[in-house]
Amino acid sequence: METKVFKPAEVTAAAKLIQAGQLVAFPTETVYGLGADATNVAAVKQVYQAKGRPSDNPLIVHVADVPTVERFAKPLSVAAKKLIKAFWPGPLTMIFNLKPDALAPAVTGGLTTAAFRNPNNDATLNLIRAAGTPIVGPSANTSGKPSPTTAQHVLHDLDGKIAGILDDGPTKVGVESTVLDLSGQQPAILRPGAVTASEIEAVIGERVLTEQHHVGATEVPKAPGMKYKHYAPDAQVYIVDQPTDWPAALAWAGRQSIQIGVMATDAILTANQLPANCERFSLGSNVQSASRELFAGLRHFDTETEIKDILCQAFDSKGLGAAYMNRLNKSAGQTHFSV
Ligand code: TXA
Ligand code: MG
Repeated sequence: METKVFKPAEVTAAAKLIQAGQLVAFPTETVYGLGADATNVAAVKQVYQAKGRPSDNPLIVHVADVPTVERFAKPLSVAAKKLIKAFWPGPLTMIFNLKPDALAPAVTGGLTTAAFRNPNNDATLNLIRAAGTPIVGPSANTSGKPSPTTAQHVLHDLDGKIAGILDDGPTKVGVESTVLDLSGQQPAILRPGAVTASEIEAVIGERVLTEQHHVGATEVPKAPGMKYKHYAPDAQVYIVDQPTDWPAALAWAGRQSIQIGVMATDAILTANQLPANCERFSLGSNVQSASRELFAGLRHFDTETEIKDILCQAFDSKGLGAAYMNRLNKSAGQTHFSV
């Protein structure tokens, strides 16, 4: 099939495809999503097929307003309402208990809970309103690959497999939303994102569990998505922990007989001489720009088949850095460059 590219002014046409049970990729402030009508089981099943995603991995339901959440979820807690007020629209996904049979098992992966998110992107909020239905959307990448932060990334993975894509340019945050589980006794972050644990704690006045995303190989993960291979480019990624490790890392790179990609901030790239077999990709100036560029950099080097290894800069695991390091650790399979 031909994948039509829509501009934000053309949401009505894109919404018609959603209503017809077709797949349309959509922009958010974090990454692009792969959209389908959340109430159309056949359409939702196609999402898994297009991505090659395991069908027990539940999807986020994207909504344009809170009443839509209340249609499906059990009454929202005071904490949930405070968080909605503080962070929606924005990169915070919340997991709520559902009313019985409110959403199909194809959406929930058979769980009695579902993840809801109100994305901060006007084109997509207009798309949801025009379609008149909430839209499920995993990240619009082939399962296992880095999430897409531009329409071109989506087309690279899904051109010809989906009916359309709403193109609103590069995304602003670059790492996926924080996933906060509010279905149990204590709020728990299942996936770190731009909304941090301390920001959430400040709003609800309650401790938030944050260790949930460290899942051992034999444990059953709380967020089913966490057990799968993620963000893995074709090249092997090595994390370079400290700015002072770069001279040694680049000296090592220069001794290899292969091409090596280097992902680092401008400060690192200007302070260090790159060997001839290294190619640079700038992560900008700080953890914000690095988070925005991380997946784009991994994808960039994937298109260059001669690049076999990638050296990538670490940041402190604080604030947005926790989300950045979570994604970088997964893409590297926890592999660090050691001096
Ligand atoms: O920023 C984002 O969240 C992007 C944009 C498109 O909204 N979406 C996204 O979706 O990253 P996805 O499907 O790639 O990741 C959703 C994560 C998965 O790890 C999934 O297992 C988890 O949320 N999840 C979804 N529903 C859940 C539930 N009911 N209980 C536990 N985890 C859930
Ligand atoms: Mg994903």
